[in-house]
Amino acid sequence: MCGIIGFTGRSQAKDILVEGLTRMEYRGYDSAGVALEVAGADGEARLDVIRRVGKVAGLASELEGYKDESTCGIGHTRWATHGRPSTANAHPHTSCDGRIAVVHNGIVENFAELREELQDRGHEFKSDTDTEVFAHLIEEAYGCEGDLMAAVREAVSQVAGAYGLAAVCADEPGTIAVARKDSPIIIGMGEMGAYVASDVIALIDATRDVVVLADDQFAKLTPEGIEYTDSEGRAIQPEVTHVDWDLDMAEKGGYPDFMLKEIHEQPRVVRDTLVGRMSANGELDIDELGLSLQELNDIDRVYVIACGTSYHAGLVAKNVIEGWARIPCEVEAASEFRYRDPIITPSTLVVAVSQSGETADTLAAIRDARIKGAKVFGITNVVGSPVARESDGVIYTKANKEIAVASTKSFIGQIVSLMLLALLLAQVKYRLSTKTARMLFRELGDTAEQIQRILDESSDSIHEAAEAVAPAHSALFVGRGMGAAIAYEGALKLKEVSYLHAEAYAAGEMKHGPIALIEPGFPVIAVATKSPTYDKVVSNLMECRARGAVVVTVATEGDEEIKKIADHVIYIPQVRDCFSPITASVPLQLLAREAALLRGCDVDQPRNLAKSVTVE
Ligand code: AGP
Repeated sequence: MCGIIGFTGRSQAKDILVEGLTRMEYRGYDSAGVALEVAGADGEARLDVIRRVGKVAGLASELEGYKDESTCGIGHTRWATHGRPSTANAHPHTSCDGRIAVVHNGIVENFAELREELQDRGHEFKSDTDTEVFAHLIEEAYGCEGDLMAAVREAVSQVAGAYGLAAVCADEPGTIAVARKDSPIIIGMGEMGAYVASDVIALIDATRDVVVLADDQFAKLTPEGIEYTDSEGRAIQPEVTHVDWDLDMAEKGGYPDFMLKEIHEQPRVVRDTLVGRMSANGELDIDELGLSLQELNDIDRVYVIACGTSYHAGLVAKNVIEGWARIPCEVEAASEFRYRDPIITPSTLVVAVSQSGETADTLAAIRDARIKGAKVFGITNVVGSPVARESDGVIYTKANKEIAVASTKSFIGQIVSLMLLALLLAQVKYRLSTKTARMLFRELGDTAEQIQRILDESSDSIHEAAEAVAPAHSALFVGRGMGAAIAYEGALKLKEVSYLHAEAYAAGEMKHGPIALIEPGFPVIAVATKSPTYDKVVSNLMECRARGAVVVTVATEGDEEIKKIADHVIYIPQVRDCFSPITASVPLQLLAREAALLRGCDVDQPRNLAKSVTVE
């Protein structure tokens, strides 16, 4: 999502900043900016802040006309969270007197309280961002400390949330103060000076020996060197890591392909999508909703409209919108919905789910639904996309730019966002107590850690299963309830990246036709996690096994019985059934990727597919 770069040394800072920002463009952003330190004619240094909405190239051409000498500065590419994409909301943000500038990645959870307190003390805010509180907090602390690094340390101690932060101050020329908590910061010393970035790709041309700052560590960069300290200001010596990636690998974060990188980003996507969403008193906070509580309370029918993977996220959502909020919910392919005459009243909510935010069929369905009088709510990954603009309200999935054509992390972001919406509807309609909503919200957040465990522990079993699936001509995915929704997505993923024909069925439907396909060696991949329908799924698998199928199951840790009917078992941690789609889809993504690699396919750019489908 956002990108940070900073440089102080013996070279033109603006060129280094633009180069770094360009390198980080692949992450996705909506605006870019830099703050450059300049020695004024009167001998007093000043900060020049230059920001633009849109591409780094636009900022670069504006900077071509910038003639002042500057050897210290910070830069940023912003992906909007608090506040729409605009010049005023673009980073860097400055203190009231303009002598301190900051760039920040992450989210300040207590920004509303901090902003109010700072305003009460006379600070004037120029943006809607959470980041701006850092500029004012540092300004206050600098007034007392007269030391930028100490002021940054004091400022972050007041902040709850995540930050990768770099700050400059006109009164301390040549210094960049850096802090980190739950948001990556990489630091390195090159021949021309000291560098900071949020992504190693931005500085590997300057140095390959870098420090990956840990949480609650700080760094003070000057042209002469870098001093590292802890939260008490005591000197520390972090480990130096040698990076031997080429540019391509760096862009992929060291992973062999974007698909794997993006699958591994999913724990972060869960956390980022949930951060700041529940207040201390258990109320859900979706401020970008665009609908009043009364309008939400009036909703008596929900349609989820989407295509492909996003449609499968809708299948998951149906279970919780009906289960938690007790509102009838239908899920429809947008390409069908728009040509039907669905029953729509002013109390109908249409939820449009689209990673790219520009899928033609989904957009057309949104327009149609609005004309018919529905309220439309968008769930998308792209800020300012047509789906976001044309909906009454929007939740952004916080997946960051997804590069692999096959959606993985976006899907997880969509499910988590749809679950937030279902929880909110349930709260507004008093169908769930605050205590239950709070418990479900916490368990939803716990899936981040559970995904991480799957990523850390399941690669061998997934590889073995992939070896069994890859040589086949066709495969069947089955499951019931939540498991069925995930089976559909598992089959789509396998088709997309491995070109292996795959179908998904609700397991109970097997005996009504698909079972005719089964012959010795035919792969049946089942979501067989512990759920109210577990025994039924097991019976269906026995029927497949009896006909010679190779059975692969995604099962719950500790389930030894399943080994009696499955040739390959991929275990995942136990979760409440409603959250199993989040965890169970991860091994199926990895299985699809492994099978595709075994079949020699390009997993990032499958044939015939496009990342955004803007034709009907
Ligand atoms: C997912 O792997 C696919 N690339 C595809 O099904 C995709 O989900 C579909 O085209 C919808 O795209 P959207 O989410 O951008 O609207």
